[in-house]
Amino acid sequence: MRTPIIAGNWKMYKTVHEAIAFTKEFRQLVKDVHGVEVVVAPPFTALHAVVEAARSSPVAVAGQNLHWERDGAFTGEVSAAMLHEAGAEYVIIGHSERRRLFGETDGNVNRKVVAALAGELTPIVCIGETLEERESSRTLDVLDRQIKEGLDGLSASQVAGLVIAYEPVWAIGTGRNATPQQAQEAHAHIRGRVRQWFGAEAADKCRILYGGSVKPDNIRDLRAQPDVDGALVGGASLDPKGFSAIVRDGSRR
Ligand code: 13P
Repeated sequence: MRTPIIAGNWKMYKTVHEAIAFTKEFRQLVKDVHGVEVVVAPPFTALHAVVEAARSSPVAVAGQNLHWERDGAFTGEVSAAMLHEAGAEYVIIGHSERRRLFGETDGNVNRKVVAALAGELTPIVCIGETLEERESSRTLDVLDRQIKEGLDGLSASQVAGLVIAYEPVWAIGTGRNATPQQAQEAHAHIRGRVRQWFGAEAADKCRILYGGSVKPDNIRDLRAQPDVDGALVGGASLDPKGFSAIVRDGSRR
């Protein structure tokens, strides 16, 4: 059995003060939730404050990005070692906003995944097609390329510990989520490729999250799908009550 994960990607929202206020309220709301890993990804400035505010609670913390080098002259960048020391346990890699707005490639994603694993962080690797790619029937080819290049060179046991987030770009921040059937179809394809390229154990253990307009009112139907192991939530993770409702319903099928 795979333990589900409900993760909130705060993107460029919340100051330190706001992040602490969220965490104090949210940890109370999820304190009796079991059988689910609960993760929030604050901006770097608030990461350590959230780690402190979430101490001795079920809430774990993720970075939203990292650089693949350990340190060096890379203005504006943060390394796996820095995230790990600040208390992060996970890191989001290859989000479509980073690919689209900041030129991140599958090659960069691969270097970052390798660095995250070396730095004892669990990578949450984001993949997903644009609307144009879906409409021209290229969805599965795009997913194949992102998996093959993004996870290139990893061992089966490393892939078993990974989290993959399927986030169709057309569903992010649009209020237009994939139907549970569309999500299941993509997730089953992804798991099938992981099986083919990394073996049965990796495929059975790796968690595949859905992301794109997840809300309290659609998480249940998404989680009812056999290959949807949780969610990566953007906008709806900013409100403690709404996000705790998603955690609650996302913790079970
Ligand atoms: P929304 O939930 O706001 O659509 O964002 C999804 C996302 O990008 C999570 O990483």
